[in-house]
Amino acid sequence: MSDRLYIFDTTLRDGEQSPGCSMNLDEKLRVAHALAVLGVDIIEAGFPIASPGDFEAVHRIATDVRGPIIAGLARAHPKDIERAAEAVKPAEQARIHTFIATSPIHMQAKLRMQPDEVLAMAVAAVKQARSLAPEVEFSAEDAGRSEMDFLCRIIEATIAAGARVINIPDTVGYMTPQEFGGRIKELRERVPNSDKAIFSVHCHNDLGLAVANSLSAVENGARQVECTINGLGERAGNASLEEVVMILRTRSDRYSIETGIDTTKIVPTSKLVSQITGMPVQANKAIVGANAFAHESGIHQDGMLKHQKTYEIMTPESVGWKTNRMVLGKHSGRAALKSRYAELGIELDGDELIAVFEHFKRLADKKKDIFDEDLMAILEHGDDVESERVKLISLHAASGTGDTPVAAVELEIEGQSHKATAEGDGPVDAAFKAIKSLVEPNGKLLLYAVNAITAGTDAQGEVTVRLQNGERIVNGQGKDTDIVVASAKALIDALNKLPGMHARKVHAQYSGV
Ligand code: KIV
Ligand code: ZN
Repeated sequence: MSDRLYIFDTTLRDGEQSPGCSMNLDEKLRVAHALAVLGVDIIEAGFPIASPGDFEAVHRIATDVRGPIIAGLARAHPKDIERAAEAVKPAEQARIHTFIATSPIHMQAKLRMQPDEVLAMAVAAVKQARSLAPEVEFSAEDAGRSEMDFLCRIIEATIAAGARVINIPDTVGYMTPQEFGGRIKELRERVPNSDKAIFSVHCHNDLGLAVANSLSAVENGARQVECTINGLGERAGNASLEEVVMILRTRSDRYSIETGIDTTKIVPTSKLVSQITGMPVQANKAIVGANAFAHESGIHQDGMLKHQKTYEIMTPESVGWKTNRMVLGKHSGRAALKSRYAELGIELDGDELIAVFEHFKRLADKKKDIFDEDLMAILEHGDDVESERVKLISLHAASGTGDTPVAAVELEIEGQSHKATAEGDGPVDAAFKAIKSLVEPNGKLLLYAVNAITAGTDAQGEVTVRLQNGERIVNGQGKDTDIVVASAKALIDALNKLPGMHARKVHAQYSGV
């Protein structure tokens, strides 16, 4: 049994399937590069048959990203497999990941197929994939609820057909750790050619057990874990990469199994994914939450001052939290900029670094301190970020029982002051209506999410807003102790990213406060 666990990251495939987490091509490429720097073994870059955009993203990642194996997902259908093969072809190391459901409920209700037909399709798919790519992974979808005899048969047949990796997904997050670990053990013991394949697991988090189930599988011989940054994924998500990796590292006394992950890149990668998807990380999330290393109570602070190990089982630095962060400004050099981007999970070199540095310098001339959000924006808009077309000057919102909520805003749009008032179904709604009345295009609101960064009623609130205008989907974020102000800032941030957005001719009903 190898003591190396392969980390298969599916943030760009299962993670991207999370409601509201879709990413565009550039965003997917940035995440893929960050995953390579993080040291994942396999990047599942997407589902090429799903859309031309998905195909393009997998193909570009396979072309540009070096280091990890690049996998493309395919149902056990000839067309899916052809498309996946074409998409992953340019990769240094390519893998086709093909799957078919094996549980009675999926075979009867979804596929309307007999088990023998499913088995034949799986074998044909693996053979076809094997003829088109050097490496094939087969997944028995809903393996957690599949009958063991059938699972043994289909796994034996797909290994014989050429699958090098056999993935056992707990697709609906139904398993308990002991049960799931027992399944892996039994499969490895009962399938006659099981030693010819690496056993992998893919656990969903519907009952909050995805990480526990994955670890139980590792204890029972699984040597690939499929996981995602921040635990993104369908419904309640997948096993979170940072948790799996840090458990193995922190409890190396129990698990003498290594991964290839550079753990100091975990937090930067988490931030990058959160920023790009607009999906905030809850403050109390293990490893990557804002409070994961915060000590509030007096007793804890006293203990920490006496010895860090009193209340910390790993150091914040070991997962990439920075204690002494340099503030970037106009005196910062290229090396500092490169290093800050690297901390954010983005490696810049050569001409790209020179170009970004020029934008940075121009922005630093206009703005004293340059924050991470500015650095991310530079990648998208160059130094145009500070010439934000819309800025919030003031906001007053009033609401109360029995009163109609109302908001009055003043915005600076391309250097000119514009004011509006509006009523709404609450102060945030009123503020959004007032802001939106002043600009166009103003997009359709797809997502509004509030996350408290710190505890208590004086908490900093972080709001994420997602807008759609035609094909374009943009995310905006805003932070403030006043949640209405944080919301307005998030909306304005998103509006600033909409191409062609400008001041609207003021409608009489909204003009003049
Ligand atoms: O959850 C699942 O079963 C999947 C498979 C495609 C591996 O995502
Ligand atoms: Zn899944």
